Amino acid sequence: MVDVSVADLTLDEKAALVSGADMWHTVGIDRLGIPSIMCADGPHGLRAQLDGHDHGGLLGSVPATCFPTASALASSWDPDLLHEVGVAIADEARQWGVSVVLGPGVNIKRSPLCGRNFEYVSEDPYLAGELGLALVRGLQSRGVGASVKHYAVNNQEDDRLRVSAEVDERTLREIYLPAFERIVTGGRPWTVMCAYNRVNGTYASEHHWLLTEVLRDEWGFDGVVVSDWGAVHDRPAALEGGLDWEMPPDLQRSPAAVVAAVRDGSLDESVLDRSVARMLALVERGRHVLDLDETAETAAHHELARRAAADSVVLLRNDAVGPDEGAPLLPLPASGTVAVIGEFARTPRFQGAGSSQVNPIRVDTVLDELASTLGADRVRFAAGYRLPDRHGDDPARDGELTAEAVAAAAAADTTVLMLGLPASYESEGYDRTHMDLPANQLALVEEVRTATDRLVVALVNGSTVTMQPWSDGIPALLECWLGGQAAGGAIADVLTGAAEPAGRLAETMPVRLTDIPSTINFPGEQGVVRYGEGVFVGYRAHDRLDQPVSFAFGHGLSYTTFELSDLAVTTSGDVDATPPLGAEVTVTVRNTGDRRGAHVVQCYVGDDEATVARPPRELKAFAKVWLDPGAAERVTLTLDQRAFSFWSTTHGRWAVEAGTFTIAVGSSSRDLPLTGRVTVDAPSLQPRPDRMSTLQEWVDHPESWAVLDGFLPERHLMRSATFVRFLGSFPMDTLAGFSSFGLDHTDLDALVAELHR
Ligand code: BGC
Repeated sequence: MVDVSVADLTLDEKAALVSGADMWHTVGIDRLGIPSIMCADGPHGLRAQLDGHDHGGLLGSVPATCFPTASALASSWDPDLLHEVGVAIADEARQWGVSVVLGPGVNIKRSPLCGRNFEYVSEDPYLAGELGLALVRGLQSRGVGASVKHYAVNNQEDDRLRVSAEVDERTLREIYLPAFERIVTGGRPWTVMCAYNRVNGTYASEHHWLLTEVLRDEWGFDGVVVSDWGAVHDRPAALEGGLDWEMPPDLQRSPAAVVAAVRDGSLDESVLDRSVARMLALVERGRHVLDLDETAETAAHHELARRAAADSVVLLRNDAVGPDEGAPLLPLPASGTVAVIGEFARTPRFQGAGSSQVNPIRVDTVLDELASTLGADRVRFAAGYRLPDRHGDDPARDGELTAEAVAAAAAADTTVLMLGLPASYESEGYDRTHMDLPANQLALVEEVRTATDRLVVALVNGSTVTMQPWSDGIPALLECWLGGQAAGGAIADVLTGAAEPAGRLAETMPVRLTDIPSTINFPGEQGVVRYGEGVFVGYRAHDRLDQPVSFAFGHGLSYTTFELSDLAVTTSGDVDATPPLGAEVTVTVRNTGDRRGAHVVQCYVGDDEATVARPPRELKAFAKVWLDPGAAERVTLTLDQRAFSFWSTTHGRWAVEAGTFTIAVGSSSRDLPLTGRVTVDAPSLQPRPDRMSTLQEWVDHPESWAVLDGFLPERHLMRSATFVRFLGSFPMDTLAGFSSFGLDHTDLDALVAELHR
């Protein structure tokens, strides 16, 4: 027990405590028995550096289970699975004396180009929040703290330490903040990590509105705000803003700056004391880890990593080919030869680069795993292409490797071609400049597909790649993401049918990069990136613009088939009342195929008519159900008032507009066979008009119209629809100044007085 209160510490000790000791530790104060606790990256496995420090993954770290990266785990749409992974990561943290794990990262995938998308969950804030929450709960259930990052609006790597993300409040509230809000209110994370970038001009590390007003005052955050590594530029200003713990500490400047600011009165000591108290509480929460003597079950964690990777594989397409009419190409048949083509089958890419890079305990390859399952005699390998060299230079198409691959495909019964993004294509620290696969791989597909009809392409990449036209007509496509150290086994399991491809897309696969509105403003210029697309991110944009996509958000096939039926929607409560508006959405899901499989039931809500521009539909609930052949389950999804709301900038709060809402249920944002309508009654959001309200607003609002109606002579111009359309945007105050108008300022004064009486 740290039986110490803030008052026991000297000013110097307090200034030291809100700075770290080094790259990974808090400051211990022996005099008071305050121990030093350790934190370590990261979101998909532990990167604990016991000796030597860096934060680029360049130096080594202890061996740890490398789980699938966030974009993979997110594709599982399975909070229980993320919880399990959180527990396992925490157990490895306990073994190495780590009290706080620096993850999950729940920044929204605003653009597929963000180099760090592999570390982030989704383009959808609801999904990111639910899955991030599960990981946090898993970690913290084992007494290890989480650090939800990077708060907020860190959606690109380009100029990430300085760029100002210029975002309006509605977009912040509806897209970029909800995942943090959900995790903070639902999971009480021990720490939140601020972002590097500026948000509307102010560094996130000093952002009082973000760190104090929203995070603490509105959401009730009671933990420590830690800086991203090097995000602090003005230590006293960061304390004022609400940042408690600077990491790594700028020991040459920060503690002295804090002491000086307190002494000269520019920083109120109570501000420092607040952060010190939070640091003491954090050390108190985390210190038990120091006394543990545990060894994590890493063999079991490898099995979990394998199951997690399979649960995250998305079967994008699985068409029937050739003579066995009707039978989809996957899973692979029980007999026959398989050509395994692609360097990635032998040299796997299974995680991303940067601060999240884990030193894996072991690494499986698709090639070895397939050979051991199918028998080495059924498998023939051809590398097909070379990967970039250590400088990241792309190799050209290799004629010899191509010829060998084509021959292997022609000779085999079925071909599995592994393609993907080389490590140099996506990483923390820089963004992609395009979404395409490497040219040498694209050239290879063109040739291999001429040699076989029975072609399966399996992709490994951390963020979406362009799928068309190269994949058109290829019968089977798997998106395997960066599946961690056991991905090789998991991909083999899915190919052979030992495992179900249980993933669904947590990010849209657009046809072209230029379909994505943020492309216009990515990554910004002259220190600023404008989020001009507003709330239209991911499928919200493609749906609003009615664009085709290659594969829709939420999409993913199974080896069995499912049917949804009997949708029932019942609402309860009332808008802004107790109980508030809510709805229960119930649907039957039936496994209509002949093997066990998983289905993700997705529920989207759309406001049929709104006074603000809203996406046609937004994910507001989902459930993953595993069913035996023939089995059915009645699934209930719950919608709360927030599911119907938008952020009203006029009112500075969440608001629901009266009218009808469409509740659509199905298996992707573009496959929604069941829809229901609900009619919602809600208090009007339109304020009573005043002098500066327009003619149109006076006519539209029932109360002002009643007043106006009583005043206007029967044949007055304002009763003419044509006139109102023409001059409707003029404020009444302006119209009253036009002498020909028949309603002067005195009349308007009287009308306004009557209306507001
Ligand atoms: C990254 C964080 C990471 C930290 C420590 C930073 O550069 O942005 O995500 O947790 O380094 O390695």
